[in-house]
Amino acid sequence: MEDAAVQSEGRSGGIVINDGWPGYSLDLFSYPAHYSGDLDCVFIPHGVITDRTERLARNIMDDLGDHDIVVLCVLKGGYQFCVDLVDRIKALSRNSNRTIPMRVHFIRLKSYLNDQSTEDLHILGAEDLSFLAGKAIVGTGKTMETLLKHVEAFRPKMIKVAGLLVKRVPHNTACLPDYVGFEIPDRFVVGYALDYNEYFRDLDHICVISENGKMKYKIEKEGLQKEANVIQQKA
Ligand code: HPA
Ligand code: MG
Repeated sequence: MEDAAVQSEGRSGGIVINDGWPGYSLDLFSYPAHYSGDLDCVFIPHGVITDRTERLARNIMDDLGDHDIVVLCVLKGGYQFCVDLVDRIKALSRNSNRTIPMRVHFIRLKSYLNDQSTEDLHILGAEDLSFLAGKAIVGTGKTMETLLKHVEAFRPKMIKVAGLLVKRVPHNTACLPDYVGFEIPDRFVVGYALDYNEYFRDLDHICVISENGKMKYKIEKEGLQKEANVIQQKA
């Protein structure tokens, strides 16, 4: 990546991608043909994500190597990062004398409509987290203050948050994750399990969606309400 666009380490400890970073041309990489025309650029190639994740796994192992840990994966956007991070931790565990017994639990947070954050945050699957008591936790997913408050109530021994991406949002006072993959500009990105209305999770690279892509997969609020009603009726 260009020197001017990327620094090795920022205040958060992640790789800093500056505001001017144009991304890579899509022609330089492979991606599913069904998304042609829907993306502007490859913002972070898949290989860079996995290499960075490998290092985060080592950092986690160095810090928590003596604890049992419960990994709390925040679905759906955090699943790919969680799977890869857990895989790397397992590989380190197999190949060293320091070993971490790990349990993995999944919860779901939902707050986005199209590319806009909505006020109401839904937490699913977090009703009874009492098994967290006395355990160390590594949460993976987007920054999540509401969730942290919820988790703290179950009195785990230690809580650590790993986030693949931290966005530089103006006036952001939220606390930073303990382990950060990349610090990125305030742009809506997709891929590597991050979605736009459920699309693009099957894309390996983290990319910037094009205007065309936004239009193509946009859903109106009434449409989403109908979808939610159908899910409720089925449940
Ligand atoms: N992409 C997808 N989901 C998100 C994003 C994003 O940039 N920010 C918050 N949720
Ligand atoms: Mg989403």
